[in-house]
Formats: sequence, structure tokens, C-alpha cells
Amino acid sequence: MRAILNGERLVLGTCYYPEHWPENMWRKDLDRMLASGIEVIRIAEFAWSKIELTEGVFNYDFFDRFLDIVEQTDMKVIFCTPTATPPAWLTKKYPEVLNCDIDGIRYNHGMRRHYNYNSPVYRQLCARIVEKSAAHYAGRRCIIGWQLDNEFNCELDVFYSESDSAAFRVFLEEKYGTLEALNEAWGTVFWNQTYTAWDEICVPRKTPGYVANPHQMLDYFRFVSASARSFAKAQSDIIRRYAKPDDFITTNGMFGNLDNHQMTAESLDFYTYDSYPNFAFCLDVYRDEPESLKDRGWSRNLSEVRSISPAFGIMEQQSGANGSNAGMEAPTPRPGQMTLWTMQSIAHGADFVSYFRWRTSTIGSEIYWHGILDYSGRENRRLRELCDIHKKISCINQIAGSQYEAQTAILTDYDNIWDKQADAWHRRIDDPSRKAFFAAAQRSHTPLDYVFLGHADLEKLRQYKVLIYPHMTIVTKEQADLLTKYVEQGGTLVIGCRSGYKDSSGRCVMEKLPGLLSPLTGTDIPEYSFIAPDAGKVTVSWDGTEFEAEVFADLLAPVGGGEVEGTYTSDYYAGTPALIRKNSGAGKTYYYGSAWNEKSARIFLEKLGAASPFADLAKVPAGCELAVRRKGDKRYLFVLNYESTPAVFTLYKRGTDLYTGKTVTGDITLEGYGTAVIAIE
Ligand code: GAL
Repeated sequence: MRAILNGERLVLGTCYYPEHWPENMWRKDLDRMLASGIEVIRIAEFAWSKIELTEGVFNYDFFDRFLDIVEQTDMKVIFCTPTATPPAWLTKKYPEVLNCDIDGIRYNHGMRRHYNYNSPVYRQLCARIVEKSAAHYAGRRCIIGWQLDNEFNCELDVFYSESDSAAFRVFLEEKYGTLEALNEAWGTVFWNQTYTAWDEICVPRKTPGYVANPHQMLDYFRFVSASARSFAKAQSDIIRRYAKPDDFITTNGMFGNLDNHQMTAESLDFYTYDSYPNFAFCLDVYRDEPESLKDRGWSRNLSEVRSISPAFGIMEQQSGANGSNAGMEAPTPRPGQMTLWTMQSIAHGADFVSYFRWRTSTIGSEIYWHGILDYSGRENRRLRELCDIHKKISCINQIAGSQYEAQTAILTDYDNIWDKQADAWHRRIDDPSRKAFFAAAQRSHTPLDYVFLGHADLEKLRQYKVLIYPHMTIVTKEQADLLTKYVEQGGTLVIGCRSGYKDSSGRCVMEKLPGLLSPLTGTDIPEYSFIAPDAGKVTVSWDGTEFEAEVFADLLAPVGGGEVEGTYTSDYYAGTPALIRKNSGAGKTYYYGSAWNEKSARIFLEKLGAASPFADLAKVPAGCELAVRRKGDKRYLFVLNYESTPAVFTLYKRGTDLYTGKTVTGDITLEGYGTAVIAIE
């Protein structure tokens, strides 16, 4: 049986770097970890030189000594491949392994993730170190699984080396077969970009004006993903040959330009996520987030992780202040926040949580990225909180293997995510709408899943009463057919403006909009516009409920069975349809001509009967998150208070507070950052 994520119990771990500490500290560290409830350590992800200090000379003594000590204890180990940090001898001798910036200038040794996935010599050297490590260490009793590399596509998710251009050409030749087909797909007749030989093509480089050709960009993002996936697969295939039968292979993420679903299906037993909610308190992008949704935003990421890997773990869970020499300074988690963020991960489905890191590094670029302990290793508040978390975890073990319960899902797919990266119009509508649905769902206690088309069949879609694809720019025939079946079999589908206007190359379609979605939505779009900056508020009325349109306005007309549900009530399009419903089979589709804000998203959730599915179970204040995990008939209610002040929620049923074992019902008070896990009777 797999040592973690086996449906039996929850397990805590930590990231440990034996190479950073004197050997005489190892045993004491391990004993202290075990005494605090840590049962698993992850090691070696940056330690190439501890095994191959010079080219081709392998010496396993260092980790053998460490693992010997580990095996004197009950500690279990996740061993990593060290390929995120090629050694100095390697990059000096084979500079082609280095990644380059968009101008083709090489990055240098001195940080991490400075390599590219496509250098043939790097592939060979990685295959060798992985094989040597696996062959030597895999039989170790204490090893329970393997992590590939570290955070594929972290730091950089774009690659511009010569090896990348060469591999891009191969990727394109396999995809298109002929240059004619490529020229057609990329619309290269526009601005005289026609290619007449494969070696004229490069990864997208800096251009005088806008970004490069958008169709080339879309293929480039697909290519980066395919490169990372094949890099992962090569390692996974090697490890499988040596790993003990129950040992797992995973990797940690999640980062851009990578189809994590596909990678997981091809190379991993499950996926793990690195959860740092404290970023919400230091990065500019979160500055405007409402206070009560800041760190709670990680629930959105965790929901995406759940879609990649229904059983998942957290390989790095925040335990201290953020910070590197380069910045990112965030406060130390307040008392209770480490527990809150751990329970956030568990509420969303993680049955393994491993903290980053055991002791804060005294050296290198992350001396401010704090772990559980400070530099001295002295007893501290965070260690005491860890011990308390362990107590709580031990009380809720019965939830292991249960599933997060959502009846509503937000749809997405990788092509549209990548199209958005190279398309400002797409971004301007999609970002606010996705945020709006997340905020509205959180505050109305509507658990959401994220479902990636391309990785979900009809049976998967049928699990949800309501599916929302905010802005489905690129639509393929297969996707339109799948969604049509979902609706015909009783589902409710919501689609927002700017949908169906691109094909899978990112070219605009010449059919009337919304293109392939027209029959399903019963909608025609004779005209569209960004909402003019001087237009003031543009309002929509849906059965007498008024709300504001956001960013964009598709001016709609019903066709083929579509019925007008809502109209614009301002600007020159007052009276024009803004929302059309079409019934098909047992279900219905709504096409909304605008993007969403939190208020309109909330109205949609409410009017479609999706909001607050657990209202009969509990009444929870907006500052708290509600989640339910289910195993068979058994339901576990999580309530998480993200605010510093106490909150009261009301339980309408009877349940057992799993932390205390007591029967509870009625009003329950959570302290600031407090959490509750209740088994419902
Ligand atoms: C992760 C990474 C760790 C460490 C941590 C804190 O991205 O995997 O190695 O760098 O962040 O910065």
C-alpha cells in the first residue's frame, strides 16, 4: 500500500536539506520532527553535486550516511531527482544546456532552473543522474516515493535557447507535416511572415511592436508544455524501473505553460502542490483583493489542483515568513494561520501536507524564506503550532480518502488559458470574470470545482448541476458537441461574452458569432463593443433584477430557439438582449453578453439555483469558508475563519466536533483564524 494518500490517514511532512546542516545535527533533527508529528521528509531536490561532484564520478556516500541515520528512526523519505539545479561543471562544459532570455542571451549559473528542457546533452546527463540515483537508492526501506525535479516552469515558463528552437521545429513538423499547413494555421500571409524552410522558424522572439504572431505564440505555449512533459516522462520512466512496487512518483507545482493534467496522467501517481497563501500579503497583484479573500484565494488554486489529481498532497505548505534576497517580504504567519492554511489544504482534498521547510536556511538566496524553525533551531511558536496541528490531524484521520463536494464547476482549458496570455482582449474579460465567480462563490458558500475541457468526459461533466465557462474564446467542434450533450442530458451551462470567435489555431472564425456555440446557445451577435470609458454604468435587467455589465458588451439577438431573458438598459444598446436562454433536451444554456463582477456572478449563482447548496446544513458568515468532504454517506463540514476576529456559525444538524470529540449543534464560535471539522450525523 502507498505510504501516503492511501485513504487511511492524514500524514504530515517537511522539506529537509541534510546538505545544509552539520551531520551531527541530523539525528536530533529527525527525532524532533518525529516528536512533532512529522513522518515524512522530502530531500535532495537541489543536491546534484552531492552525488556527481565532477562529471561521471558518482559517489553515494553522503545520502547513504543520511539514509542510514534515517533508517534508525521511523522517518520516511521522498527522494528527489536533482535536475532543477545543474552543477557548475555541467553548465561550464555544456553551455547549451542553459536557458536564454527572449534575446537569446544565456542565463548564468548562480540561481536555479537555469536549464532548458530540450538540450540533448542535458537530457542525457539528467537521464544518467536519475538512473544512477534510482539504481542506488530506490531499494532503501525508508524511501516511499520520488519527486521529479522541483517545480517545473517555476521562475521561468518561457525558453529561448537554440535547443528550444530546434525542438520547436520538430514539434511543428510533427504537428503540421508541411510548411503550407503551418503557414495557413499561423496566417503568415499577414505582414509577409510566410516561411519557406523549417529552419526559418524560431521560438517567438522580440519583435518591434506587439508580441509575436499570436498563432505562433499559441503553438509555442503548447510546445513549452510538451517539452516539460517529455522531460518529466523521461525521468519517470527511469524511476519506474527501479522503484519498489508501492513507491510513488510525483512532482510539485503548479506553474504556467504546462498541461499538468497530461503530465500527471503520463508520468505521475499523483500531483502535489506548493501552497504559499502568504503571497497574498506581499505581492502587488493581490494588493486590491478584498481583505477577506486574500489568503483565501489559495482555495481557488487548490480547486485547480484537485482537478489535476483528485488525490493530491501539499509538498510545500507555508510555515514561516516569505522572503528572498530579491524581495517578496511577507509577515510571519500569525498565531493560527499555519493551522488555518493547513486546514484549507485539507478541506480542499489534500491528505498529505508537508511544510516548507524544517529550519530556515542560514545561507543562499532564501535566508528570509522562513521554515518552521529559525536559524538556531530554538523551540518556537511555529513548532508549538505544528504540534497542535498534529494533534488536530490525528483527530480527523477518518476524513482520509473523502472527496470535496461541489455541484457547480467553472470550466476552462489549456488552449484558452494560453490564448489569453497572448491576447489582451481575452485577458481583460476573463480575469475579472473568474475572480468574480470565485469571490461570489466563496461569500455565498458555493463550493466550486474547476474542470478542464480536454481532460473531462461527459460522465465527469454530468457530476455538476451547473457549469460556467466564463469566456470560451477558442471552441472546437468536439467541445461544442460535448457541451451540447451535457445540456441535453439535463445540465445547465452558462457562457459569457466573446465566446466562440476563435478556432484552435487562434484564428477568428468567419461564421456569425458565437460560431460553433450558436446552435447550443440560440444566440446571434450582430454587434459587440468594449464598454466605452465614458459610458458610465451599463446596466442589465434580468427579470427585474438589475446589475452592471462589466468590460464588454456583446449585443445579442435570439436565433434557433433562443429566448431573451435579460436586456441592456443603458447606452445606445438599451433594449438590446444581453442574456439569452435556450432549452435543449432536459437542460438549458445561457449566453450572457458581458463579463461578470462579483454582484452579477452572485445573481447568476442564485438564479440558477447553484448558490449555497449547504444552506440546510450550516449558516456561515461571509468571512469564513465552508467546505464539505464526503465519503459514502458520511459528510465532513469544514469551517475556516480567515479573519483575525472571532466568528460564529450556526450548525443546523447535529455533528461531532472532531477536534474535541464532542457533539455539537447550533451556534459555534471560532476564534480568529480558527477552524472546525465536524462529522455530520
Ligand atoms: C518553492 C520552491 C522551494 C522554495 C520555496 C520558497 O517555490 O520549491 O524550493 O524556493 O518556494 O521560496
